[in-house]
Amino acid sequence: MEKSKEYLQKEKFFADLDRLHLSLTFDDVRLKTRYYPEDYDPNQAPDLSTHFSKNIKLKLPFVSAAMSTVTESDMAIAMAKEGGLGIIHNAMDIDKQKKELRKVKKYVNSLIEKPIIVQDDWSIEQLLNYCNDKNFNFTTFPVVDQNENFVGMLTNNNLKYELDESKQIKDIFTPLDKVIRTDPKISSEDAFLMMKKHKTSTLPVIDLNNKVVGLYLWSDLVRIHHEKSNYNVNEKGQLIVGAAISSGTDYLERIEEIKNYTDLLVIDSADGDSKFVVDALIKVKENYPNIDVVVGNISEGESALKLAEIGADGIKVGQGPGSICTTRIETGIGTPQVSAIYNCFSKLNEKYSSIPICGDGGIRDKGDISIAIASGASSVMMGRVLAGVKESPGKVISRPDGSQYKEYYGMGSRKSFDNNPNSKIRYNQTDNQVLIEGVESIIPYQGELKTVLNGLVMALKKSMIYLKTKSIEEHRYNTNFTRITNSGLRESGSHDVNVIGI
Ligand code: XMP
Repeated sequence: MEKSKEYLQKEKFFADLDRLHLSLTFDDVRLKTRYYPEDYDPNQAPDLSTHFSKNIKLKLPFVSAAMSTVTESDMAIAMAKEGGLGIIHNAMDIDKQKKELRKVKKYVNSLIEKPIIVQDDWSIEQLLNYCNDKNFNFTTFPVVDQNENFVGMLTNNNLKYELDESKQIKDIFTPLDKVIRTDPKISSEDAFLMMKKHKTSTLPVIDLNNKVVGLYLWSDLVRIHHEKSNYNVNEKGQLIVGAAISSGTDYLERIEEIKNYTDLLVIDSADGDSKFVVDALIKVKENYPNIDVVVGNISEGESALKLAEIGADGIKVGQGPGSICTTRIETGIGTPQVSAIYNCFSKLNEKYSSIPICGDGGIRDKGDISIAIASGASSVMMGRVLAGVKESPGKVISRPDGSQYKEYYGMGSRKSFDNNPNSKIRYNQTDNQVLIEGVESIIPYQGELKTVLNGLVMALKKSMIYLKTKSIEEHRYNTNFTRITNSGLRESGSHDVNVIGI
């Protein structure tokens, strides 16, 4: 792909910094606005869709962190319903992680895999008794003959005007030649389109042997696939979710248990370019070539390139930018986040531009998200920004003065190490004596996730309007930076006034 004028400018900006061995983070830069290009349509809302990994699409570039105070099933469900993604942490035993993932997968039922079927020679009376006994509150059934072959559909419409209960189902049902049906290969979205086209509220799935193997209901599919729906779903119409795994001893056993309930895996480590992680990536890709594997965390371009060569389907960047992280202070390592993301982005562009980067950690102000994307991130992972919502794990803490909080602690904090032995593996530590690399904190309670995400969406769209970028992809390539000083930063916020409201 030919490099745009804007991309060349961005390259120069970072090359100049590199010559000085200087790395920057969010507060060190702002994004440069520009005169609108000829092909820019100001009436077209910016498109926020993107990828978390090669095959995992997102409607919004937001991912909730794989942390025990951020993402379990409630958060992952809420994130996917809004178009984002939750990564369920693995500081829990395999069984519990499987249960959490399963809850997300079962949240929306796009395809009823084992629909209740009824037989064509039953009388209506028999059917009504059956529904009564079983406490069914529905009257839509695929109908089969004595050999269990599909012969038609019975719906509420067939039933409601029939007053003679001695009649058989085959006297009143919709017979085979009038039933719109489909085969098992259809995706949930195509099933939706087919039902829309034929204006049918039920779509039985029939296999080559004429057996009923599923049922789609319009009422379920419209919730998922309506153009106004933000639901982020897979081919089967299930909410998309990711699972964190570590490079410790149990990861293959873990994957075997959870593989049917997750759309992707994230090898989650504080030291993502270590031999442990590389070995794990190789093994996982060998054993599970069809599942996307995102690997992190790193901050150097060379490491991104090597992980891509080995088969990573996505790269997670961020060593120490997180609000609860003390890794940089304790160990002296780490590159400030804007440069870390750009390092990986520019290196991957040489050969692996289809591998997305997730900028993990350090998002403080809403504008930081736009800056992370302009640095090359396809999505951002957030802990603190999301940990205060209703859907994060843990109770709301109420203070006597009426203020409300939620607990938020680092996966490398003492509390995490004490509560979940697994969290030590993220930091390659297994001994009793460990180096603490994170803190415990409380943060203000924020109510529902939806409200917080709406605020982030509005801010990102507005940023892209100022920058005249139409999509996340364009934003990654064509947005430029200016370096600012402390005076510039001071000028950026409100100043020289007594703030009495916003
Ligand atoms: P934010 O800034 O969104 O960061 O709160 C969340 C990210 O921080 C990472 N993380 C840690 N890093 N010590 C660290 O050095 C820790 O204890 C710790 N816990 C989480 C992680 O990448 C997360 O997504």
